[in-house]
Amino acid sequence: MTVTVGIDQMGFYTPHLYLDMTALAQARGDDPAKYHVGIGQDKQAVIPPTQDVVTMAANAAAQILTPADQKTIKMVLFGTESGVDNSKATAVYLAHLLDLPADTRAIEIKQACYGATAGLQFAADYVRSHPTAKVLVIGADIARYGLRTAGEVTQGGGAVAMLVTANPRILALDPVSSYHTADVMDFWRPLGRSEALVDGKYSTNVYLDFFRTVWTDYQAQTHRTIADFAAFAFHIPFTKMGRKALRQILPEATPDQQTALTAAFEASQLDNRNVGNLYTGSLYLSLLSLLRHGNLQPGDRIGCYSYGSGAEGEFYSGRLQPDYRAGFNDAAVTALLAKRRAVSVAEYEELFQQQLDLTGTDVQLPVGTDPAPYYLAGRQHQQRQYRHRS
Ligand code: CAA
Repeated sequence: MTVTVGIDQMGFYTPHLYLDMTALAQARGDDPAKYHVGIGQDKQAVIPPTQDVVTMAANAAAQILTPADQKTIKMVLFGTESGVDNSKATAVYLAHLLDLPADTRAIEIKQACYGATAGLQFAADYVRSHPTAKVLVIGADIARYGLRTAGEVTQGGGAVAMLVTANPRILALDPVSSYHTADVMDFWRPLGRSEALVDGKYSTNVYLDFFRTVWTDYQAQTHRTIADFAAFAFHIPFTKMGRKALRQILPEATPDQQTALTAAFEASQLDNRNVGNLYTGSLYLSLLSLLRHGNLQPGDRIGCYSYGSGAEGEFYSGRLQPDYRAGFNDAAVTALLAKRRAVSVAEYEELFQQQLDLTGTDVQLPVGTDPAPYYLAGRQHQQRQYRHRS
């Protein structure tokens, strides 16, 4: 019998602060409707200096890992484009914080927003040949464009942690996918810069072109059509982007299917609308949002489109499993989002400047203001000081 492999559990974390997009629009002299409707964002996560991708990943992963899982994890694949070191992998810090066994491989994967999908596919391939192993896959990022830039409204941050296993509870991956790479300068972050450079309009066109390419190729490989799908989840740097992607293929569906796929899309963008861009984690927050809010049935096929600027696109699919709701903590995600505090634009701008700088000087951070279990206490001798409060 063929072993099914895929996503067994999902955990999500975003910090306790957010910025309301009406407040940002007013401060920038823009019409709030442009942000809420034109871009499709209502709130944006604000990342305090006490959180980075390592702590956010630990806060997401700790929600799903049991002591038994911790013992059987054989690999940590950490997708991020907000790494904290040019040499040492974020996955090594994470494995230590989570107290994972020493016989674990821990590496970081970088290809813009695509890194977590690469991790997921590598993990699935590994589990297919080692069915008792579990792999922890992370997508964690801080989306930073800079104050008063066109990209400012598309910032955000957070982490999604996924456990990839045989006989998964959430999504069994179809062993086929379609991917496409081209050397494109649509978004990049040269060494030494903490904010991305982006050709915004061009990046949205490349995203859509790549989606068309991989969707067409996937159909040719599988002979499936849009009628085979109950829902799609997209990489959502801002929710209008996913809406545009869906609109590209909706004409292929019957009117009834169009209604169902549009309703599923609405479910898949609800949480992203309130968190903002997570770069590597965005597709996976969208998938989680779909699972949380969508009207899905076990056996439904879900299509996932991943895009990382620079650029790489991939389309893959999976079948929803009977007990999929047991693979994530719906109430915990709702509570995490509901308990956040709104910051003023002035406070957001101050926090934006406080992110740990690239100078390497020693610093102690105001840890008492951050309620997260895992946090960054500061930097000493060029080393980040990670802490855990139970
Ligand atoms: N009411 C309603 N809608 C309004 C409006 C109003 N008052 N004013 C403007 N709009 C609409 C516009 O019509 C437009 O809609 P369409 O795209 O459907 O035409 C939308 O709001 C945006 O308006 P603009 O194009 O004028 O916005 P902008 O010039 O400020 O830039 C952006 C928008 C290019 C997305 C910019 O925010 C940006 O550069 N973002 C970062 C880049 C990005 O996220 N790219 C996505 C693909 S790359 C990727 O996916 C990797 C990654 O994560 C970065």
